[in-house]
This record gives sequence, C-alpha cells and structure tokens, in this order.
Amino acid sequence: MNSSQSKVVTIERHINEQERLHTGATGDFSGVLRDLTLAFKIIWRQTSKAGLVNILGATGKENIHGDQVKKLDVFADETIYKAMDHGGNLCVMASEENEDVLHIPDRYPTGKYVLLYDPLDGSSNIDANVSIGTIFSIYRRISKSGKGTIEDCTQGGFKQIAAGYVVYGSSTMLVYTTGNGVYGFTLDPSIGEFLLSHEDLKIPAKGKIYSVNEGNYKYWQPGVKKYIKFLQEENKEESRPYSLRYIGSLVADFHRTLLYGGIFMYPSDIRNKKGKLRLMYEANPLAMIVEQAGGVAMDGEQRILDIKPDSLHQKTPLFLGSSEDIKICKEFIDGREFDLS
Ligand code: AHG
Ligand code: MN
Ligand code: MN
Repeated sequence: MNSSQSKVVTIERHINEQERLHTGATGDFSGVLRDLTLAFKIIWRQTSKAGLVNILGATGKENIHGDQVKKLDVFADETIYKAMDHGGNLCVMASEENEDVLHIPDRYPTGKYVLLYDPLDGSSNIDANVSIGTIFSIYRRISKSGKGTIEDCTQGGFKQIAAGYVVYGSSTMLVYTTGNGVYGFTLDPSIGEFLLSHEDLKIPAKGKIYSVNEGNYKYWQPGVKKYIKFLQEENKEESRPYSLRYIGSLVADFHRTLLYGGIFMYPSDIRNKKGKLRLMYEANPLAMIVEQAGGVAMDGEQRILDIKPDSLHQKTPLFLGSSEDIKICKEFIDGREFDLS
C-alpha cells in the first residue's frame, strides 16, 4: 500500500491505543468514551438539521440558572443521559440542565466513573446557526459502591481523568484529553466516524487575539479594564493592538483560542461576583484541556483546577489561553500600572 496514504485513525482505534497506555486498563473507561461518541453523533444529526425539524425555539421553560431552555438543549441533555445510563461504567451523572445529580436507573449496573456535562453550550446562538457545543468531564468515583453521590460530582478539577468537548460548526470536531496530550477528531459525515485530524494539539505560547464580552466592560474590576486597554494600545514588537473575537459560545471561543492562541476571559463583575460560567462542567474540563496543550487557566487568583468545589452548579470567573498572555493579564489584575504614554 502506498505509504504516503495517511493512516485513517478512528476515535475507536485511538481510544483502544490510549487504553493500552494505561496498564491494567479494564476497558470500562473506553466504554464511557465509546458511548459518549454515539451521543455526540446523534446530537450532531439534530443540530445539522435543526432548522428543518421543529426543534428550534425555546421550550418556554427556564433551567436552574434562569436561562431560557432551547429545545436542542433538552434533546442533547436527554440524548447523553440515555446513551450513558445503561453501559455499567458510570455510578452517577450531573448536567447543567438538572439541579440534582442524575442517578443510574435501578435496572442497570453502576460502574466506577462519574460523568459531568454541559449538553449544549452556546444555546443562545442556536437559532442564529452559530457554532454550539457539548462539554464533558470524567472522574473516578470516590464513593465506595452502588449509587454515586454529590461528593462524586464535586471533586476538584485536578482529579479529572478525562475532559473534552464537541464543537458543532462548519465541521464537527471532538477534542479530548485523558492526561496524555490533546487530540482532535473531525466527523466525516459520509461514514459517520470521528477521524483523527489534530495529533497532540499545543496552544501557542502567545497569541494576538483576545476574547471577551466587552459589553460588560463597565462592571469589571480595574485591573481587567487596564489589561484590555493595554491590549488595545499599539506596540508593534508585541503585536498589539490585539484583535477582538467573541462568538458567545464558550466551546467555539475556546476552540479558536486553543488553535490560534491568545486569551479568553469571562471575568467576575460587580453584578456577578463569580462571573457566569460554571466550574464543574465548563471551566474545569476546558482548564484540563488547555493545560494539557501547554496553556493556563485561572479564575484571576488561582489555577482553575485547584478550586475546591462546594456546589455542583457553582460559577467561577475564567481566564484561559496562552501562557504568556495569561501571565500579563495576571500582572494587571495584581495591580501592574500601564502608562498610556
Ligand atoms: P450555555 O449555553 O451552556 O448556558 O453557555 C452559555 C455561556 C457560554 O457558552 C458563553 O461563553 C457565555 O454563555 C456567553 O455569555 P454572554 O452572552 O453573557 O457573553
Ligand atoms: Mn455552557
Ligand atoms: Mn448549556
């Protein structure tokens, strides 16, 4: 066979190869990723035709955060739960769309892993056909056996054994890490397979793009305001001014930051002391991925993965991206002065 033909690596093959890196692996963890991949394909199918079938628009209900729940949110939430509840590899799940933890039905066995997920991220963009996504985070259980507990679902981010996201965009990509680097798979709709397209992704040490909702500028703390002004000042050697790119779907803004470098911010502000993004199923998984790609993720004071969670849906300010950009941002938050001369 022509050796230049690039090898076709499906995510199944990659999961099996990764599993062999973990001696004593039982295959249970691979089962979790396999079942998740099926759920993502089903969600992709719905999102790719959302405009055609009557699942656009809101359900008229609100979720616990007071966000309007769009039909696709509900569909994605139910799809993931139903794909994952019978495999025997999970002891409990938790989702952005449900106040309490989600137990495994009594008729199915429980396993040793915990799954947290944001079934559809960027919901406000659904009707405008802007990229949306799914974010997931996997832990080993800490409870002994049987039904999992809230303690299983509120472990520190540093204990995650895997994290990933899917971005349903012009092409649909699944990006994940199990702690041995970051791998990207692009869905080939003609065969319904996620194929390896980005091997061992690394984020540039410094970028030229900042990503934040500037509409909240007046509510930010002084250091963040000074940092934004610093990025907007001209300095050719430091490639400033930076460009501003903000999609409003965390997964899409994150994916661009991972590939191109720069910084994504959702700071706290005087109205929301903890910002808007959720720690357990938005900030923690993306923090694990960006660190595995050589970047940094902080809340403005500490490393995201070091935050000790005290509730399932707690929020956190989030600053993540290229290591050099985060370092400068932190200097401004800590009071560095920047003379506008
Ligand atoms: P979700 O759709 O899961 O509730 O997440 C929405 C989040 C996130 O995707 C994005 O970064 C942020 O909301 C945008 O918030 P603003 O509209 O306040 O900028
Ligand atoms: Mn979200
Ligand atoms: Mn969501």
